[in-house]
Order: sequence, then C-alpha cells, then structure tokens
Amino acid sequence: MTEAILLVGGKGTRLRPLTVHTPKPMVPAAGVPFLTHQLARARAAGVEHIVLATSYLAEVFEPYFGDGSELGLHLEYVTEEEPLGTGGAIRNVASRLHSAPGDPVLIFNGDILTGLDIEALVDTHRTTGADVSLHLTRVEDPRAFGLVPTDETGRVTAFLEKPQTPEEIVTDQINAGAYVFNRSIIDSIPEGRPVSVERETFPGLLASGAHLQGMVDSTYWLDLGTPQAFVRGSADLVMGRAPSPAVPGRCGDRLVLDTAEVAPDAKLMGGTVIGAGARVEPGARIDGSTVLDGAVVESGARIRDSLIGAGARIGARTVLDGAVIGDGAHIGPDNELCAGARIWCGARIPQSAIRFSSDQ
Ligand code: GDD
Ligand code: MG
Repeated sequence: MTEAILLVGGKGTRLRPLTVHTPKPMVPAAGVPFLTHQLARARAAGVEHIVLATSYLAEVFEPYFGDGSELGLHLEYVTEEEPLGTGGAIRNVASRLHSAPGDPVLIFNGDILTGLDIEALVDTHRTTGADVSLHLTRVEDPRAFGLVPTDETGRVTAFLEKPQTPEEIVTDQINAGAYVFNRSIIDSIPEGRPVSVERETFPGLLASGAHLQGMVDSTYWLDLGTPQAFVRGSADLVMGRAPSPAVPGRCGDRLVLDTAEVAPDAKLMGGTVIGAGARVEPGARIDGSTVLDGAVVESGARIRDSLIGAGARIGARTVLDGAVIGDGAHIGPDNELCAGARIWCGARIPQSAIRFSSDQ
C-alpha cells in the first residue's frame, strides 16, 4: 500500500492575515480545515499511512487530527526546528516511511485542491519506470509556478521554478504539487540543511540523467495560496465543482454549519459557507464567501468573494467585495471594502470610514 508525505510547513504569507493564527492547511474550506479534504482524498485512493511535515504553527495539527483513525488513516507528525524547505522537509521525514528503496511514495503540497486521480499517477509511475513522477496541469499564466516542459512521451526535459524572464516561459505546463518518488530518491536528498525540491532536487536529478515523468491532465486544480483562491476553492467544494469526500453535508449553493444562525430572509449563494456559531442578520446577502466560526454579519450587509475571519463582525449595510477580514476584526456599518483589501486581526474600522464609491 502506497504511503504519503504531506508538506504543511509553509508560512502562508500570501494568505495573511488568515494565517496569522492558523497555518494555511488548517484554515477552514467548506467547513473543515482544508487539510481534511486532502487527507480524505488520499484515503479514498487507498493511502493509509501519511506523514505530515510541519514547521510553521506545527503544534495545531496533532490536537485536531490525532492519530488519524477517525479518517481511517495512520498519521504521524514530524516538525522541523528550522524550516527545511520542501526537499529538506521530505528528507526529514524519511525515517518514518515503511517503504522499501524501490517502492513509490506519494508527496503532496499541502495547499492544492484538485480532482487528481491519485491511483492513475501511481500507475503512470509504475508503467514508465520513472524515478519521480509529477502531476502537471496547464494554466494561463505560469509565472507563479514551476514550469515543467515534457517530450512527446511525457518525460520531463527541464524544471524552471518561478521563471524570471520571458525566455524562460517555455510551456504552460506547471508542477501541480503532487509527486510519486521512489523511496531511494528521498533518501538521496541531503540531510540536515534546507533543500528546495523545485530549485535543487528536480534540476539535479535531471542533470544526472534520472527519469522524471510528467502526467498532464485537465481535472480541477487550484493552489489555495492567495485569499481569492482560497475563497474560490471553498465555494467550489461547497458547490461540488471540486471533489472531496470530506464536505460536511450535501453539495449545493450554500453550506450552513450546525449552530450557525441565519435570518430567514438573508440570501446565501455561490457556495457560501457559514461557520459554527456564526450569525447572519436579516436582509444580508452573501455570495461565494466564507464566514468563519462565531463571526457576525449584520443586517443588510452585502458580501461577495470575501473571507470573514473567526469572531469578526461586519456592520449593517457594509459592502465587501474581494476582501479578507482577519479574526476578531470589527468593521462598522456603512463601509465599503473592495479589491483585495486585507483587514488585520482585531482591527477596528469605525462606521462610514472607508468607501470605494461615492456615498450618494
Ligand atoms: N515542512 C515544510 N517546510 N513545508 C514547507 C516548507 C518548509 O520549509 N516550505 C514550504 N512548505 C510547504 C507549504 O506548506 C506548501 O504546502 C508546499 O510546501 C509548497 O509551498 P508553497 O509556498 O505553497 O509553494 P508555491 O505555491 O509557491 O509553489 C509550489 O507549488 C506550486 C503549485 O501550487 C511549487 O512546488 C511549484 O513548483 C508549484 O508549481
Ligand atoms: Mg502553494
């Protein structure tokens, strides 16, 4: 049975302030910590043993997921004292693996929402006899990712992480953040120092003639590294566009967790999630957004494509469009926050303080 490593130690800086108190994989998507979806999908593909490589806010994972038995998994946790990078993190958990040198080991970035057929990736790895196999996806703008050109047989010819110049943009195929490594390749990563699997291990393997195989597909794929992507991913889970066995409840236009209170005439749509103990007052309209536990949306507020942190409060008639409100922040009535606004945890914005359009 294939085992897996999950990389969950990143600082999630692009998601701040969501990741001030919570590491990125523990931010709720469709009502449960995002990591739950990845764990449940791996389990559904037959994976039973998963090692979590933790670093930033490492202490919150184990109290929540424990030994993993509730998900039918055997989970282990390994924490880096200093962040070791993606390759260093993989090497650092090697002693916990049960696989023999020639066995395949799955490795996942901890912030990817995808419909990847995990078993098909392992099959590709086996039938091509590769040392490493990578899930690849096509994106319109590949600059924020690792570019992975392949030959006509799918064999990887180069790995260009975050290209800096137009000449480096040689393909729209990118590293989708799921790999199969032969166990022996993991053991060959240098120990005890930071290593980037993207900048060091993959280029080094290619230079030494190793066989890296790409598997391109067009299934659902999203890196939840930014607030807009995170909100989108959560909504897609709720609406069933992104597959996960871990969505609590039926897929549809909205997900309201038990103990949330929603006024009968409030409108929730577009995959909106209302967290436990949260309250939505009369006349509020919330579209494609996430309202985390204990937050309050007052009457007549209009919210689109936004994320409202735990215990935050959105005043009456306030408009949010593409905004992120940190945990415990209070936005007074009659504000208007748009286009990527980030309000820090615990901040206070008085009534009628910020607008993006005229008030008349
Ligand atoms: N344990 C540990 N230690 N984990 C880490 C560390 C570390 O020092 N640094 C990053 N990670 C984890 C993150 O938590 C995340 O799950 C994963 O490694 C990738 O890190 P990101 O910071 O999200 O990288 P990225 O999105 O810029 O780029 C990566 O993902 C792209 C696909 O989304 C690269 O793998 C790209 O090549 C790829 O295209
Ligand atoms: Mg990422």
